[in-house]
Amino acid sequence: MSESTVGESTQSVAGSSAAGARIELLQLTKKYAGQTQSAVEDISMDIAPGEMVMFLGPSGCGKTTTMKMINRIIEPTSGQIRIGGRDILELDPSELRRGIGYVIQQIGLFPHMSIAQNIGLVPQLLGWDKTKIATRVNELLDVVGLEPTTYRSRYPKQLSGGQQQRVGVARALAADPPVMLMDEPFGATDPITRERLQAEFKRLQKSLGKTIVFVTHDFNEAVVLGDRIAVLAERSRIVQFDTPANILAAPANDYVRSFVGSAAAIRSTAMLLVSEALAQVRTAPIPADAGVPTITPDQSVRDAINAMLVSGSTEVNVLNRGGAPIGSLSFEAICSLSASARRA
Ligand SMILES: Nc1ncnc2c1ncn2[C@@H]1O[C@H](COP(=O)(O)OP(=O)(O)OP(=O)(O)O)[C@@H](O)[C@H]1O
Ligand SMILES: [Mg+2]
Repeated sequence: MSESTVGESTQSVAGSSAAGARIELLQLTKKYAGQTQSAVEDISMDIAPGEMVMFLGPSGCGKTTTMKMINRIIEPTSGQIRIGGRDILELDPSELRRGIGYVIQQIGLFPHMSIAQNIGLVPQLLGWDKTKIATRVNELLDVVGLEPTTYRSRYPKQLSGGQQQRVGVARALAADPPVMLMDEPFGATDPITRERLQAEFKRLQKSLGKTIVFVTHDFNEAVVLGDRIAVLAERSRIVQFDTPANILAAPANDYVRSFVGSAAAIRSTAMLLVSEALAQVRTAPIPADAGVPTITPDQSVRDAINAMLVSGSTEVNVLNRGGAPIGSLSFEAICSLSASARRA
């Protein structure tokens, strides 16, 4: 039986279950019973092994439906899905799902199970022995930044929302699946926790190399995390499917532009180097004893904003490599840069 799982099939193809698997959607359509219109119509997409693709689109456009067809929580009306070259509609659905990590928006931890039991769920279903599961759980808690001895015996309600999200990610990673599906996994957290989880996940993904489909309706999240973004319209119609940089530089039409909007200006300002920003809006350095946070010219404007947020200051001092002050940046100055980028 286990030879029919996606994880196993990738193992034989790629030599390691940790490597990502190619996902191919071929003319995939879903029409819910009793509906006159399809929820998803004729979507085709090729996702490379190890690639992280963001589904970006408005509420109701079919993102979740498309994603749930990939692990067969929803059965397609027509079309084909291949993972690692295999037609998954021919696999046993529950076997298939054990080879796919899945993080849902509401986290979905089991309240009566400890954190360790939640994370160890799929390995247990796969028949791993207790010691191997315990080791894996500790390893994953470390990976998502939760101290194992502190957290493994707790129950979900004894964790903050952001910590529960991390456990949700750890659980999805448990059996080292080649494919991860993530449906607005950070949606339920406050903006600061969300940014932190995004940054951590991006680092994590670099080392894991999973193939990931990630649903969001947040353009910034799509830009920060995605290798490519699929901008979807009604019935999961692909309006543009490209790298964040290409979409920012050349939105395909007004629809995509409406997503990019002023976010592009803010984003492009945030990605400027401090040295570039200084060249446009240099102000004098602030005396070192003023308690203002410091930053170096090779950091980004985004880093400067983060430093302000953390310290509660509206200015940062810019120090050169030798630690000598060479100028400063104010929040106001950054806003003016962003405003002129929007006008450009
Ligand atoms: N079980 C169902 N039966 C009938 N229609 C459904 C069902 N589930 C979803 N739909 C419809 O299919 C369309 C796509 O829904 P889906 O959940 O895929 O959207 P989504 O893009 O994930 O939206 P959101 O951003 O709000 O989560 C919607 O019009 C929705 O009303
Ligand atoms: Mg959805």
